[in-house]
Amino acid sequence: MKKKIALLPGDGIGKEVMEGAVDLLKSIAEHYHHEFDFEYGLIGGGAIDQTGDPLPDETLEICKASDAVLLGAVGGPKWDENPAELRPEKGLLKLRKELDLYANLRPVQAYESIADQSPLKAEILEGVDLLIVRELTGGLYFGKPSERSHHNGEESAVDTLFYNRNEIERIIETAFKLARERRKKVTSVDKANVLESSRMWREVAEEVASKYPDVELQHMLVDNAAMQLIRSPKQFDVIVTENMFGDILSDEASMLTGSLGMLPSASLSESSLHLYEPVHGSAPDIAGLNKANPVAMMLSVAMMLRHSFSLEEEANAIELAVKHVFESGKRTADLADKNHESLTTKAMVEEVKEAMADD
Ligand code: NAI
Ligand code: MG
Repeated sequence: MKKKIALLPGDGIGKEVMEGAVDLLKSIAEHYHHEFDFEYGLIGGGAIDQTGDPLPDETLEICKASDAVLLGAVGGPKWDENPAELRPEKGLLKLRKELDLYANLRPVQAYESIADQSPLKAEILEGVDLLIVRELTGGLYFGKPSERSHHNGEESAVDTLFYNRNEIERIIETAFKLARERRKKVTSVDKANVLESSRMWREVAEEVASKYPDVELQHMLVDNAAMQLIRSPKQFDVIVTENMFGDILSDEASMLTGSLGMLPSASLSESSLHLYEPVHGSAPDIAGLNKANPVAMMLSVAMMLRHSFSLEEEANAIELAVKHVFESGKRTADLADKNHESLTTKAMVEEVKEAMADD
């Protein structure tokens, strides 16, 4: 198979985990006789420094001319004081909007062999396998107005949680379709006791659910969902929710695995062009130290191979190799303790590649 992949490493550990992804893809290409052509693009802080734009047009063109996009992470303290339009995160938000990547899939699986690194008890974690479906191009992160103003000497700020009915419909549809392939349960998370947008969300969820009689629909308020994720995460199959709620709940859910460095994601559009990225950010506190956990990125590569290229065998091989590496006691610093030596980013990638060759 011949495929063109756009690579957007971004900033901080985004660059380091992207190196690991490329390394892994090259070894898969060789082993399974595929041809992957890589095209690099600038995004985020590095793009601002080099071009004055967090998402240069050239990057967008590279993405549109590719079969899939892989992204590292953007951001860092260097750009934190920049005005809103010149922030690295703006580049990522714009890319999501431009490619209409409305459905962000964030699977969370607890690995028994690293359960000791989760703050939760092993019996709570056993068998956790859930999927957060986060709406990605609407809601609080995109609503207008989003601005600061001054009136009679008083400063104020506003953000807007806005949704069209069809934006809600398509994300809930996505969640139901995915649930059909899983354990057939959708938990729709909202704040319908307070927010009008959530009341419409709930209505639409009910309407969509009527088309999927084989899938169970449950509504849950977001504050309760935050608590239930810790109290009994096993109850969840597919969680579908608004942009910001999903952002927050998925970082919380990463602790079911033990580290934010474990969670992959896929951002899907209605076209055939999708983007894959780890859930974590650029981690300035460990950037440049060859310490970052590359597993979230490698599992994102697996999602790309499966969703965009239908390479199920190759995707399974990555996931199985990651599992075997953890079972052999090998971990990066974020998951290590006094009983485990900690591997560098590069060493972890090597371990996964070797485990793939052995499996
Ligand atoms: P972060 O996700 O970068 O880091 C949070 C904590 O988790 C840090 O202690 C970090 O060291 C650790 N961590 C994250 N990924 C890790 C990995 N792969 N291996 C080991 N440890 C890992 O979030 P933070 O610190 O709030 O944000 C840093 C920057 O990243 C900010 O500029 C933020 O805007 C940006 N960001 C970008 C995202 C993206 O590009 N998709 C998503 C989230 C944040
Ligand atoms: Mg986040």
